[in-house]
Amino acid sequence: MRRFLIDTDTASDDAVALLMALRSPDVHVEAITVVAGNVPLEPAVQNALYTVELCGKQTPVHAGLAKPILRDLEDGRHVHGYDGMGDIGLDLTGRTPAEGHAVDVIIDTICSSPGEITLVTLGPLSNVAVALLKEPRLAECVKECVVMGGCCVLPGNITPLAEFNIYVDPEAAKIVFESGMPLVLVGWEESITSGFITMEESAKLEAIGTKYSEFAVGIQRTLIDYLEKSTGMIGYDLPDPLAMAVALDASITTLERKRVDVIAGDGPARGQTVVDVWGVEGQPPNVDVAVKVSAEKFQTMLAELLKE
Ligand code: RIB
Ligand code: CA
Repeated sequence: MRRFLIDTDTASDDAVALLMALRSPDVHVEAITVVAGNVPLEPAVQNALYTVELCGKQTPVHAGLAKPILRDLEDGRHVHGYDGMGDIGLDLTGRTPAEGHAVDVIIDTICSSPGEITLVTLGPLSNVAVALLKEPRLAECVKECVVMGGCCVLPGNITPLAEFNIYVDPEAAKIVFESGMPLVLVGWEESITSGFITMEESAKLEAIGTKYSEFAVGIQRTLIDYLEKSTGMIGYDLPDPLAMAVALDASITTLERKRVDVIAGDGPARGQTVVDVWGVEGQPPNVDVAVKVSAEKFQTMLAELLKE
């Protein structure tokens, strides 16, 4: 079994990514650690617990940082719904997270099995950055860290230059990107191209007819409304599931090794991921950037994992 640890700001697309990992027959999810992002920490924890229960698993869910390192949280409830899960009336209260802070769980789980554990991050990098500050050996102990975040080519989704996960806690992202950790980056541009689900494709997923497909499609309701109103696009993007698909099977993408730096601080470039495409700065590359993820392979994998 491959061993994963997933750090998530659980909202609608995170939940689908969690479901994919939890239902992958050759993956054991050691723990899920939660960070504030798309929604505040408490609903994010509840959303993760609900998803684990839906999948019939006992995977421990640990709460982490309730805000970015230096900033107040700017959440994405206007995108994913007030409850983060499309506001479709799911019972998202009353479940109990496991004991132990997410930061300690990340350190203890990964550093007690050097080279064994894949870390997949689906939200702001606050938990991972604090874990690195507390235990820098984390960077060499993790097998690899697959990050949903950044925009390497196209404009961002939160500012013209930044993607949400990096923008929300750019100082954390800078710490992670400069840590020496083996990083795979699945950026926003791949989400909106290879990770985009049209309504026709969505109907096919829903027609699989399991509780998993009903859940995965149903919780995208507010995202569909938001995208249509704000961009005119009909359908929805699945950034976190796309990153999870790359973590599950890297052969669905091409990886290009590049230098990627994060702009911390305030100002118009806050949270930008600057990719040195031609290596003109002469800095050592630090990230494998996913380019041209196969939309077909992604959707095939997703559909398979939504079956009974
Ligand atoms: O920008 C994409 C990120 O924000 C993902 O983490 C996803 O959950 C979204 O809302
Ligand atoms: Ca997320």
